[in-house]
Amino acid sequence: MTSRRSTAEIFEKIPTVIFETSSAAAAALAGEVKALVETRQKEGRQVVLGLATGSTPVPFYRELIRLHREEGLSLRNVVTFNLDEYHGLAPTHPESYFRFMREQLFDHVDIPDENIHLPSGLVAVEEIFDHCHAYEEMIDAAGGIDFQILGIGRTGHIGFNEPGSSRDSLTRRITLDRITRQDAAGDFRGEENVPRFAITMGVGTILRARKIVLMAWGEGKAEVVARAVEGVVTEAVSASFLQEHGDARFVIDAPASRELTRIKLPWLTGPVRWSPEETRRAVCWLSSTFKRPVLKLTDEDYNEHGLSDLLSEQGPAYQLNIRIFNQLQHTISGWPGGKPGADDTFRPERAKPYPKRCLIFSPEPQDAVVSIGATIDRLVEQGHEVMVVCMTSGNLRVPDSEADKFASILLEIGETFAEGWGQQAEYARMTLQSLTDKGAVGEDPASLRQLKSLILRGEVRDAAQALGLSHERLRFLDLPFYEKGRYRRFVLGSEDERLVTGLLREFMPHQIYLTGSASDPSSVAALCAKLVEQGLASLQGETWVDACSVWLYRGREKALEPWQIAMAMPISPMQLERKARALARCQSLTSMEQEVTRVNQMTAEQYDGLGLANYEAIESFQRRVVGS
Ligand code: F6R
Repeated sequence: MTSRRSTAEIFEKIPTVIFETSSAAAAALAGEVKALVETRQKEGRQVVLGLATGSTPVPFYRELIRLHREEGLSLRNVVTFNLDEYHGLAPTHPESYFRFMREQLFDHVDIPDENIHLPSGLVAVEEIFDHCHAYEEMIDAAGGIDFQILGIGRTGHIGFNEPGSSRDSLTRRITLDRITRQDAAGDFRGEENVPRFAITMGVGTILRARKIVLMAWGEGKAEVVARAVEGVVTEAVSASFLQEHGDARFVIDAPASRELTRIKLPWLTGPVRWSPEETRRAVCWLSSTFKRPVLKLTDEDYNEHGLSDLLSEQGPAYQLNIRIFNQLQHTISGWPGGKPGADDTFRPERAKPYPKRCLIFSPEPQDAVVSIGATIDRLVEQGHEVMVVCMTSGNLRVPDSEADKFASILLEIGETFAEGWGQQAEYARMTLQSLTDKGAVGEDPASLRQLKSLILRGEVRDAAQALGLSHERLRFLDLPFYEKGRYRRFVLGSEDERLVTGLLREFMPHQIYLTGSASDPSSVAALCAKLVEQGLASLQGETWVDACSVWLYRGREKALEPWQIAMAMPISPMQLERKARALARCQSLTSMEQEVTRVNQMTAEQYDGLGLANYEAIESFQRRVVGS
């Protein structure tokens, strides 16, 4: 029997299930694994699971642990094979996948130790070939993998099969791609500390699994997900080989689905309910794809490019164009805090009250300055009461070289002035010693983390000053979840909630600026956004909360597209220079973050292309819809 394929499926060459949130997806998947494990238990058989590491599977592992603890799921009949391991890392290394798996899953469930398999990170180079061959044989001897869990890297890798990996590749050592190493830089405190090699199952090894599920969360994965699911099968995106597997599936959250045709260009895959947002998206797409300003789009343009029903519902083109043009036009405002005394009917922010109390949340200290430095600048200049809240210390991002620099200067001062500087010199010596003791990849002791926090505070104060923001307008929360954790495995606690809610209650803002809503849910930004959202929810009913406007900005994720933007803050060439100068004061920014001014320029170019005013650069914001 052949069933009729939906239009979305014609674009999507791998079945793809979209869940609203990663936790809902992870729960469904863990439920599926539970059912498989229990069925096999009844049959007296084992289940062979292929496992992944990284941020992606963490919610899935947490759910398995919960099922084990609370619902009596036993995993005694489970055999596991992990996809990969960094070559050169001992199992005890905090970033080794061996340790990751122990901490995230194995130590909390009852999988027998002898059933657990990972490639070794310490195998000698001359033994790699045999080691990898033996790994393949062990998988076969266990009966092959029943259920393979995967994540996907920004290079499209599955396991560590970087671009160029062939369809038939087997377990082997691979050189990690530059992008992969950049993505892991936070975990290792600097790209230079990320291992260059990994041992990974091959694409061919993975494709031998009977069932495969690839998970992806957050907007950062949206592009590569679309390439893997809808693009051609190519060695350039190893996940695209899953198109050739009979039982492979993508399970993703809503932000990771945003580049799929059915989400991005829904009118190409079926009937659309033309909400104001969907209409704006379609008109902006038509204009930017065919490089014609909105006001010049014709009936034919709509009809010939899949938008005939929009035209018949809301046309003629002339009227539709004007309506959307006006909506876009009204997003532009150089008064992010509202323009006092002005008619605000069509302005993004209300005029009253003036001045406003503006609370700007920065997940890591430098995030807000990097992403919306010009808006902060403008709010201060326009007389608002601005408070930038650096939610975490961000110390894991500060390279050892910065701590070394600081301690060396302090030591020199101590030795030069000797008298009365004994303690400082001693502190400097101790710091330098702890840097040597832990080595490039060891864990920072608490005292070193503290010094790195202070260094970052200094950078941010310096950058903020360049934007006219005095030190008193910066608040450092140092949320405990960050101090206790490591990237990709932070866990929020009640003290974090208490601190954020307390701050909201104390400040009672008229405006909040927030980022992280579209990020990978395990990222610092997403966790911080969750704390603010929870805090607001718990204070619901207080009059100030109901009146407070919440503006969402993008940090490290993809910039907002014009159809998504509710407030576009234009930046003059001089202001952009000022922002760039402020950024230059943050030594711990990655080169990508330093390029944010280019991102601001690109948004301005997009507005220009739509036929709106031609600004030098734009910082953009989405309105948070209450209850979203
Ligand atoms: C790790 C692995 C990789 C990751 C991928 C995504 O075992 O197989 O393919 O799944 O690099 O990493 P995260 O989940 O950290 O974004």
